[in-house]
Amino acid sequence: MTTPTVLGAAATGADAATRADAAIRCADLVRIFTADGVEVQALQGLTLSVDSGELVAIVGASGSGKSTLLGILSGLDKPTAGQVSVAGRDLLALSSRERVDYRRRTVGFVWQQTSRNLLGYLTARENLALAMSLAKTPDRERRSAELLDLLEVAHCADRRPSELSGGEQQRVAIAVGLANEPRVLLADEPTGELDEATSAEVLEAMRGVNRELGVTTLIVTHDPTVSEHVARTVRIRDGRTSTEVLRRTGVTAEGDEHTVAEEYAVLDRVGRLQLPQEYLTTLGMRERVRLALEADHVGVWPHAQPAGHAEQSQPDTYQQDPSQQDQEAAR
Ligand SMILES: Nc1ncnc2c1ncn2[C@@H]1O[C@H](COP(=O)(O)OP(=O)(O)OP(=O)(O)O)[C@@H](O)[C@H]1O
Ligand SMILES: [Mg+2]
Repeated sequence: MTTPTVLGAAATGADAATRADAAIRCADLVRIFTADGVEVQALQGLTLSVDSGELVAIVGASGSGKSTLLGILSGLDKPTAGQVSVAGRDLLALSSRERVDYRRRTVGFVWQQTSRNLLGYLTARENLALAMSLAKTPDRERRSAELLDLLEVAHCADRRPSELSGGEQQRVAIAVGLANEPRVLLADEPTGELDEATSAEVLEAMRGVNRELGVTTLIVTHDPTVSEHVARTVRIRDGRTSTEVLRRTGVTAEGDEHTVAEEYAVLDRVGRLQLPQEYLTTLGMRERVRLALEADHVGVWPHAQPAGHAEQSQPDTYQQDPSQQDQEAAR
């Protein structure tokens, strides 16, 4: 694909300092909903940092707070407490006019329901044109053609959503989400209504967009294959980020490339971390654990464990396998 002139300007024209702003920072984010006198703590002190140009998947059980987080990042909703900034803008400090501008230009979003993303009575090209005219984005026709081309739906330009497949609708929706050169693209289960093969195509399209345009991208998904498309997966549990899996390409001693996936616990500003449930169950950890600061890691033992036992059993393991040492330090 040739480098698109108008689209390329957004990504390559921005200098490093500006791009450093195109990041998501959430600290101790709390969102409490009150419905019929009952309080629901959808976010309970969530901490998340996403760097400029990153592509991150957010996963987690139903009700864990994923959509609540995206609602806040998209400027639709406000947190009850905590701090949140996107592309250098403090979302709690926006006036209502700034909020409208933020939603039009700084973030783009794609929702699960294809019908929520596109206006049914407009063609793909007209949907893009409308989004751009609201934000007064220049070079509309050219940009629209280039975006549809980038998402490989140029052939759909003059069709209405009802004349498109689910996958095509979502790719047009991504193009609309990108219409006003947002710094951040947010997608809440963009593949939720699609079959497996089409999901993979849409996730791959989002990866392509992230790579070509450098747009910081956050995808909420239940798609179990998402790990094949992103290098970083953040898991939300009970309204907090709990663990992260980072993937990188490693090379074996024989020179073969392979993917290395490492799981990390998320550490917040005051040092809190969540241990994975299976670790707690396996070691019978409850209520309190014993911590010990070692030279290069922190040891965590179940309370019931006799103190001497764990200390004696640990050093041998670490000396045999330095990679485990790294993992322990990360926990
Ligand atoms: N407007 C609201 N009023 C009251 N409670 C809400 C509201 N929105 C969300 N919640 C509650 O907040 C919690 C988190 O909801 P959220 O929609 O963020 O979950 P989710 O992780 O997106 O789940 P799913 O995977 O099912 O989409 C849930 O318990 C939900 O019932
Ligand atoms: Mg949701």
